[in-house]
Amino acid sequence: MSNEKNARWLVKSYPEQELSIDNFELVYEDVPEPAEGEVLIRTTSLVISPPLRMAVGTGGITGNVVALGSLMRGSGQAVVVESRHPGFEAGDLVSGAMGWQEYAVIDGMKPFPIEKIQPRHGQPITANLHVMGASGATAYIGLYDLAKPRVGDVLLVSAAAGTVGALVCQLGRQSGCRVIGIAGSDAKCRYLTDELGIEGAINYRTEDVAKRLQSLCPHGIDIYFDNVGGETLDIALGNIAQGARVVLCGATSQYEGDAEWRGPKNYFNLVYREATMQGFYIFNYAHRFKDAYRRLGELINSGQLVYREDVLDGIEQVPDALVRVLAGENFGTQLVKLGE
Ligand SMILES: NC(=O)c1ccc[n+]([C@@H]2O[C@H](COP(=O)([O-])OP(=O)(O)OC[C@H]3O[C@@H](n4cnc5c(N)ncnc54)[C@H](OP(=O)(O)O)[C@@H]3O)[C@@H](O)[C@H]2O)c1
Repeated sequence: MSNEKNARWLVKSYPEQELSIDNFELVYEDVPEPAEGEVLIRTTSLVISPPLRMAVGTGGITGNVVALGSLMRGSGQAVVVESRHPGFEAGDLVSGAMGWQEYAVIDGMKPFPIEKIQPRHGQPITANLHVMGASGATAYIGLYDLAKPRVGDVLLVSAAAGTVGALVCQLGRQSGCRVIGIAGSDAKCRYLTDELGIEGAINYRTEDVAKRLQSLCPHGIDIYFDNVGGETLDIALGNIAQGARVVLCGATSQYEGDAEWRGPKNYFNLVYREATMQGFYIFNYAHRFKDAYRRLGELINSGQLVYREDVLDGIEQVPDALVRVLAGENFGTQLVKLGE
């Protein structure tokens, strides 16, 4: 290789409370050489989503933490620079969990931890990192396979302007639901009502969520699609209708809290309302991905579904991108572009 260096973000310390960029350290190392059976890739885009926070600290309930001094984990897309593996050649576009670094050598372990990619259903390749990837599948499968919406259902969605949430809002509306979204700024709330066309939006940072919910849906919530957990989950549980379906997708409000996870105080309402609450992990639904992408692609191509990307530029920005996501400063899927 040339004299070019590989910029890599290591985890330097675990935060006491909120994550900051000081918890990471940027180091420059030699670009690694691939051995026989290995592939050298150069990262083009990283996707930054809330659960990455759990890698820096106790690991949340997963315990899956990055050791101090080690490469921060993360996934994205890359281009093959040099291949000594028969399944890949220079120029191939791939996706995988390469971590927060510019270059990576992927060894020949099975299953091979990168896969070749191509644009799905006419969308840009970066859409594979969100609407045409796991987040799109999460919204689609979480809504249709788990919540099973019916015309006229009241559907409440938290982190509603986020990657998964905004898709759930739009799909729910198209299924004939009355959709209420919860988001963290007036601009995001306006986006939900004015651009995505949902019926109501609540700014959880400035409004009394319980009061607004009671006035927006006095007969209760039929479906709660939970992306945040914590207090919002409790408020939703306190307002469910008979036979409601609560779908547990994520718990973003808890990811900064490390070991101090808040449980739902109002869970007993599930008994009175004969409701269900079910979690799901999207990678156990891989058999449904193809259908989800096909349908999402059709909806995007016909202008019935929209999505946003919020793109930062350069490896230096990566920790800040995660801090922004946890502060709700991103508007659209947070990507960091590292190159073409
Ligand atoms: N079950 C599964 O298999 C599965 C798969 C994919 C994702 N997920 C989960 O689904 C959730 C949404 O994922 P995503 O990728 O679409 O993320 P996202 O919603 O795009 O995440 C970013 C947004 O989260 C909100 N947020 C940040 N901190 C918050 C807090 N303390 N309380 C409430 N909201 C907060 C912010 O929006 P505001 O400005 O509105 O606060 C921020 O813009 C995540 O919890 C993720 O872990 C689960």
